[in-house]
Order: sequence, then C-alpha cells, then structure tokens
Amino acid sequence: MDDMAGLNDNIIPHEAIHNTYLRLKKQYEKGLCDKWLDRTESVNHIFQDLTIAAFLIELWSDMYGARPRSESSSETANLAQFPGFVDIACGNGVVVYVLLMEGYSGWGFDARRRDTWSYFPAPVQERLKEKMLVPKPFIDIVGSQEIGMEISTADFAPGTFVISNHADELTVWTPLLAALASPNSPLPFLVVPCCSHSLSGSTYRYPTPKDSNNPGASQDDHQQSASGDLRALRAAKQKEKTAEGRMFSQYGALVTKTTYIAEQVGYQVENTILNILSPRNAAIVGVGNWSQRNGIQGLNTETRPLHQWIIKPIVCAVPS
Ligand SMILES: C[S@@+](CC[C@H](N)C(=O)[O-])C[C@H]1O[C@@H](n2cnc3c(N)ncnc32)[C@H](O)[C@@H]1O
Repeated sequence: MDDMAGLNDNIIPHEAIHNTYLRLKKQYEKGLCDKWLDRTESVNHIFQDLTIAAFLIELWSDMYGARPRSESSSETANLAQFPGFVDIACGNGVVVYVLLMEGYSGWGFDARRRDTWSYFPAPVQERLKEKMLVPKPFIDIVGSQEIGMEISTADFAPGTFVISNHADELTVWTPLLAALASPNSPLPFLVVPCCSHSLSGSTYRYPTPKDSNNPGASQDDHQQSASGDLRALRAAKQKEKTAEGRMFSQYGALVTKTTYIAEQVGYQVENTILNILSPRNAAIVGVGNWSQRNGIQGLNTETRPLHQWIIKPIVCAVPS
C-alpha cells in the first residue's frame, strides 16, 4: 500500500485516500482480524474493504462536505448533509460497518446473510439485511412471489449513494438501478467491478477491442496467436496488469461496458484506479452532473426520458 506511483488522482488525491486508509487500518484492523483470522475472510480482503471505505470517505468529503465523526467536531463534521448510502451486495459487511462507525448513515444488504454479520455491534447488525435485489423490469414481468425471498427493487430514498463493490450480477445493472430509482435526480454511485455478467445475470465476457477487430477469435486464440511461446504469453499477462493492458482485457471490457451504460443514461462518469492488491482495482463513479458535484444535480429528464427511451433499448440490445 505504500507505493502510490502510477495511481491517478483524477477524482480524489491518492494521498488523502492513503492517509484516511492508514487511520482506518489503525482503528479497525486489529478488531476485524482478531475476529476473522483463520475464518473465511483473508486479511487482504479486509485491507481492500478499508481502502474502499477510505475512498468513499474522501469522495463524500468532496461531494457533500461531510467528514467522519472521529476526525472532526460535531460542528465541522457536516454529517447531516450526507444523504445516506446503500451497499447493494455487501457480502461480509465490513464496508457498511466501517462507514457506520465513521458516522455516515446507511445500510447494506446481500442475497446471502454472512456469519460475519453477527460479530458487529447490534446497531450495525440492524443495518445489514438479507435481501435479493431484483431489478424492477424483471419484477414487472415475473412478479415478486416467484422469488421466494425478501427482495429489493432498488426503491432507495432520494439522494442515496449506491455502493456496488464486486457486486457480480448487479455490476452492469448499477447505473440503471441508480437512475431508475430516482429519474428526476439519479442516484450517485460507485461501482468496483469484479466478475463479468450480462444484464440477464449470466456470466458473460464482453468483447474487447481486440475481439472487435477479429470477432471470431476466442481469448485462447488471441493468447496462442499473439504468443506462440510461454515467454510471449507471460509478457501478455504482465501487460494486462498495466493501465493500457487492462483496457484490452476481459476485465477492461467489463469496466468499459459499465461506464458506457452509465454514460448512455446520462451520468457524468469518472474512472479511477484504487490502490488495492488486486488487478481488479477499477472504480467507476457516476453522478448526475460531475461539474456540480457539490450539491448533486439531477439529469434533465425532459430531454432524457430515462425509462422509455434510454434504458429500454440498452436492456434489449445486451445479449442474454
Ligand atoms: C463477489 S461477492 C462480493 C461481496 C462484497 N461486496 C465484497 O466485496 O466482499 C458478490 C456478492 O454479490 C451478492 N449478490 C449477487 N447478486 C445479488 C442480488 N441480486 N441481490 C443481492 N446480492 C447479490 C452475492 O450474494 C455475493 O455476496
């Protein structure tokens, strides 16, 4: 975590995120690791969650002027200006736990309740729910009774900041859900993509620019023809770890697709790289109008009738 070379500062200065990360690590690492070591959660996973929490804290400081409770007096915290967050696939619940402890209001849910939730203080446990998010266009067709568990259709309160961290099937849906939840003032979001799925929920590999030049070729074909030997294959793998290389990887294609969908529904989007020990370290931030992020503005739905003209064609155009 100490090498910050090569990270880009386009959204928030990395030094600010790093300093907040170090404070969070000092404050929460021992408590979390003592409880979780030798269980399913790796220490690295906890560090990733702390980095994402640090990124959000600095982003929200910029967007809403809100600072964490522990860093500021009640007069300077401005936490009342923070509209609330929802973590839509909160997994182990660490990001939700840290943000709540830092004074931000919000909640998280996941389709699968985790044992780790029971380690958190009672007020945090109350903010973690077992629910399945089913996008409203699906519910409109199948009905909620078919699902067999508690569902959310992403009817989040106005202004809610949507966190979609390694949310698998929900990754490409996130900008659509956030826009549909509040068409007059689309909800801001952070997506940290991980595994690639189509809008139908099936695992799906979006075409890379390489694929577009040679649509019939599979990933293996590319690796073989481009390399022919192990050294070249290793070089290709190394290249995938660079910013330029990622653009041409399967992961890069998922980031590009998610960004594209967000832009199509009218979001101002910024992409950045998180300082985590994972090659899947892209962050996509969408707000209604980036130039006015201090006091988020909505999209102009008179010129962009979201549901009817924009979301529907995208949903229809994406392969199942
Ligand atoms: C790779 S895990 C990541 C969890 C967590 N965000 C993290 O980074 O540790 C993906 C999570 O997405 C959840 N998930 C997938 N589809 C979901 C849905 N439709 N509604 C709620 N949770 C969902 C899964 O249950 C799983 O916990």
